[in-house]
Amino acid sequence: MVAEHVHPASVAAAPVVVASNRGPVSYRRREDGSLVAGRGGGGLVSGLSSIRREGDGGSEGEGGAAVWVCAALGEGDREAARAAGRRLSTDDTGGHHVRMLDIPPDTFAAAYNGIANSVLWFVHHMLYQTPLEPVFDQHFRAQWAAYEEYDTAFADAIAEEAAQGAAVLVQDYHLALVPGLLRARRPDLRIGHFSHTPWAPPDYFRMLPDDVAGQLLRGVLGGDRAGFLTLRWAEAFAACCADVLGAEVVRDGEGRAAEVRFEGRTTRLGVHGLGADADFLRERAHRADVEERMAALRAQIGGPDRKTIVRVDRTELSKNIVRGLYAYRRLLEEHPQWRGRVVHVAFAYPSRQDLAVYRDYTAEVERVAREINAEFGTEGWEPVALHVKDDFARSLAAYRLADVALVNPIRDGMNLVAKEVPVVSDHGCVLVLSREAGAAAELGDEAITVNPYDVEATARALHLALLMDPGERAERTKRLAAAATALPPARWFTDQLRAL
Ligand code: G6P
Repeated sequence: MVAEHVHPASVAAAPVVVASNRGPVSYRRREDGSLVAGRGGGGLVSGLSSIRREGDGGSEGEGGAAVWVCAALGEGDREAARAAGRRLSTDDTGGHHVRMLDIPPDTFAAAYNGIANSVLWFVHHMLYQTPLEPVFDQHFRAQWAAYEEYDTAFADAIAEEAAQGAAVLVQDYHLALVPGLLRARRPDLRIGHFSHTPWAPPDYFRMLPDDVAGQLLRGVLGGDRAGFLTLRWAEAFAACCADVLGAEVVRDGEGRAAEVRFEGRTTRLGVHGLGADADFLRERAHRADVEERMAALRAQIGGPDRKTIVRVDRTELSKNIVRGLYAYRRLLEEHPQWRGRVVHVAFAYPSRQDLAVYRDYTAEVERVAREINAEFGTEGWEPVALHVKDDFARSLAAYRLADVALVNPIRDGMNLVAKEVPVVSDHGCVLVLSREAGAAAELGDEAITVNPYDVEATARALHLALLMDPGERAERTKRLAAAATALPPARWFTDQLRAL
């Protein structure tokens, strides 16, 4: 255990450290052999930018700025990380101080694809087809060892980067063991963990081998705070702690789980419902490239009176895109008046294509869309307009045009699409929303909520949504937009920092 940390004179220790698997920048090799950096967006990036503006992270002169620790994801990242030495050039990162970890490729693949995406994602989203899976055998054990190694690499790097008493914000299921590992290395730090996914209820969580389930919970409980997107996931986490570890759950005056006490330590639970970034979205959605995409989409949709049911998702197994298509098919069967008068604009962008189940799922989405088009399509009407190539400007264009937005995940930590559509919608849009999305807690009253497995009910909801009177639709959209932007990303981030 190290209490005081000595830092090389050239690299200042940071008063704030953020850690996540995916960082704010990624590198790829150009044809001429040079490395080019691409920057990502997202809540964490705007949160970090805001603390730079507010000065909470300290300035360079007074003890260093915030540092972001992330993993090298591909070969380009690895080369850049090796070439950079300890931190990447701030020219590449939009000014952020980024330490990118070059974890051995096999270890990374086993931890990321094997454990994070194939086990933890499946557990928290309850995706297993249980008659045959999961199987926790020797392969799982090897992958679990890699996950421990990968989380240890993060804990070591954070311990090196963090100033005395620094605040550390650890993100998501990739890094569940990090708070505990870090506490053992640096008891002086204030450590928070945030889960961007749902948390599984105890009966499902207990499918994990007992020691692994215990390790994950102890890992998160190593922090001073554990943050979740909605109360439902915080309650599930608390219930797992009570069930698996026998921890004590302390409730607040309203009966909500507020703290978990275990082995003499207390971890406070926090609920921070990340909202949409209204200023950014409204400005971005009115640039020329979005206008161009709107024209192209209108041409593809055809007739000016045609309505649109829009969905925009990464093709994650939890997004329920296939049942969404089934529901649309039932709508066309049950209510033939919509034939030729509606188009389902479905964007299903590739995600985690290293994994066969994700590739198969994408193929199934494409197959069902083709089937519907073959069955119902006519000369001038293609019922499903499916796009699988990621294009942010086109997503915003679809948001602006949408009459109905279909957001029907099996289970989702929050779902930001549900929050973004009402913010940029031109004429108001009806939200058909799964009650299993975290966003339903905030938006459910103004949306038409559905059980995501109930295809008949979803088809009925789509029908009602298409019929909704334009006045009511516009009013609801206003209220949805207000609820969706209640906690913008920058505040979401600084609230957690202050709470730590
Ligand atoms: C979704 C989840 C996040 C998660 C991310 C990882 O967006 O909501 O909780 O961190 O996926 O995605 P990746 O592409 O890095 O595997």
